Amino acid sequence: MNQQALKQQVAAKALEYIEEGIVLGVGSGSTVLCFIEALARSGMQFKQIAAASESSAAALKAAGYYVSDLNACDPIDVYIDGADEVDPNKCLIKGGGAALTREKIVAACAKQFICIVDVSKMVPVLGKFPLPVEVIPMARSYVARELVKLGGEPRWREGVVTDNGNWILDVHYLDIREPAVLEQKINNIAGVVTNGIFAKEKAHIVLTSQADGKIAVFD
Ligand code: 5RP
Repeated sequence: MNQQALKQQVAAKALEYIEEGIVLGVGSGSTVLCFIEALARSGMQFKQIAAASESSAAALKAAGYYVSDLNACDPIDVYIDGADEVDPNKCLIKGGGAALTREKIVAACAKQFICIVDVSKMVPVLGKFPLPVEVIPMARSYVARELVKLGGEPRWREGVVTDNGNWILDVHYLDIREPAVLEQKINNIAGVVTNGIFAKEKAHIVLTSQADGKIAVFD
């Protein structure tokens, strides 16, 4: 199975974890786009849907769904999103698509976060994927210097502006053996909006599509 087929398969599986009439949170990325396609095919209807990025909101609208402002939403029952890396404790790295801040907000609002990935995203320790950090533009250099002090090698994702009007630093070579500690440490740097470690807002359930076509469930 190629990677796109694995994404479609795990996205379709996620439909089994939601039901009509709930308040649904939808993340972003290519796996989530497969989920939105599966959602549209299913014809399921929801009380409210909140989206974690402008691109997902556009895809949901194109599929015929009304997307609510998060401030107008009831608490989210289930949040479905992908990830760039998943560790054995269901801590994640997210933000490959630069949507980490809104994704973390929607995850924080959700009673249940179901992460959908293919097997290539499963890692013993987070950190091979460079950690995205969203920064206020005027703080980019300062934050980069602070990240170097933490042992990282930050690289500016030039040309990318987040949905919130900010910039992204991708930080290589960080030691992320204690995700919750590093998540907080980086968030404490002035000028950081948030970083892509999801330890506080880790997944409740991870669905992983395997190379043999089966779905593994980690709960
Ligand atoms: C976007 C994200 C995505 O969930 C992550 O990048 C995974 O994307 P994909 O499903 O395309 O591999 O965090 O900010």
